[in-house]
Amino acid sequence: MNLSELQQLDSQHAFQNYGTRLPYAFIKGQGARLWDSNGAQYLDFLGGIAVVVLGHNHPKVTEAITRQASQILHTSNFFYIEPQVKLAAKLAELSDGMRAVFCNSGAEANEAAIKIARRYAYERGETERVEIVTLEKSFHGRTLGALAATGQPKYQEGFGPLPEGFKHVPLGDIEALRAAVSNKTALVMFETILGESGVLTLSREYIEAARQICDDNGALLAIDEVQCGCGRTGKFFAHEWYGVRPDMIPMAKGLANGVPIGAVLAREEVALALTPGSHGTTFGGNFLASAAALATLEAIEEEGLMENATRVGDYFQSRLRDWGATIGAREIRGMGLMIGVELDSPNARKLMLKSLENGLVFNAVGDTILRFLPPLIISNADVDEAMDKLQKSWAQIEK
Ligand SMILES: Cc1ncc(COP(=O)(O)O)c(C=O)c1O
Repeated sequence: MNLSELQQLDSQHAFQNYGTRLPYAFIKGQGARLWDSNGAQYLDFLGGIAVVVLGHNHPKVTEAITRQASQILHTSNFFYIEPQVKLAAKLAELSDGMRAVFCNSGAEANEAAIKIARRYAYERGETERVEIVTLEKSFHGRTLGALAATGQPKYQEGFGPLPEGFKHVPLGDIEALRAAVSNKTALVMFETILGESGVLTLSREYIEAARQICDDNGALLAIDEVQCGCGRTGKFFAHEWYGVRPDMIPMAKGLANGVPIGAVLAREEVALALTPGSHGTTFGGNFLASAAALATLEAIEEEGLMENATRVGDYFQSRLRDWGATIGAREIRGMGLMIGVELDSPNARKLMLKSLENGLVFNAVGDTILRFLPPLIISNADVDEAMDKLQKSWAQIEK
């Protein structure tokens, strides 16, 4: 099918919640490259929104999926599932002994974290401890609970009434957090780097203070690693940079390099609050997704991709800084290969569209922010190529 046939069929039959999509339909990927049906090649600096950590068509993941599909795809969580158990063990190794429960997306992982926090309080007889505190500008997903946690009214409009007991506090304001947390707080949850609102980074001071405030009030702390986890910032979990240990870690996106999976990791005592029968899912942690995730985690380690994310991320940031100085960019921020550029003019979308025409894929957040989430395999040469395309695109839109 060509692009206009696809557009026609989509506009007739699919929900239009994604509006008119960008006029591209990629049909093949290899490493950090994508191809469309006309054979045009693109450099993928979006990575399926932080999902394709190993790059496209990674042989190890392809082999794991193929092998698994030829054996068995699904039985259900009534039974033991070998790759799921091995994945839980691998994640325990990466999280210093946390237990894992699986689901299918980031929203579901956060939804589960909210349920676990309330249930943990309930199991301890603290039935009044139900409040969830999150940040303004945060994004935690689109199921009702995750949506209530999301601190952006635009996503909530028209979907009320949302579940009760959610409070949002201004980003980075320690005193506001202290004032919001009490003996009614079950959970404080945030990302250390807020991806969807434009790669906004919390300070070490804030993250450390949040841990202390939770401890002082008997509340749990969840760090949403859905976007910033899986090695993207140069450590497996972004929060490792701060030496702060959360009670729970919701994750998804990069975990299986594109096969849908989510997980919540929790320390032993918290995990055991989900008593037998209290939570479950049909698909979560099935054979296929777990096999793909195991292969992904192995490849991240074997190929040194966390080190690469730091090394190439630093180089990319330095190139962006040099370029940013020439165009008057306000800020270059982020960590590893999670990078945002704040322009001083409302040109982000225009630049993103022009860059696509020139074969570079990234995303615009609002009018002024460029967001880059490339596969963790990229090299300095890929960065040079991306910078050439970006600079060329900027010159073209400036005319
Ligand atoms: C930090 C964060 N949490 C949760 C989600 C929701 O994940 P999903 O789209 O898989 O439901 C996202 C998605 O962008 C995210 O960035």
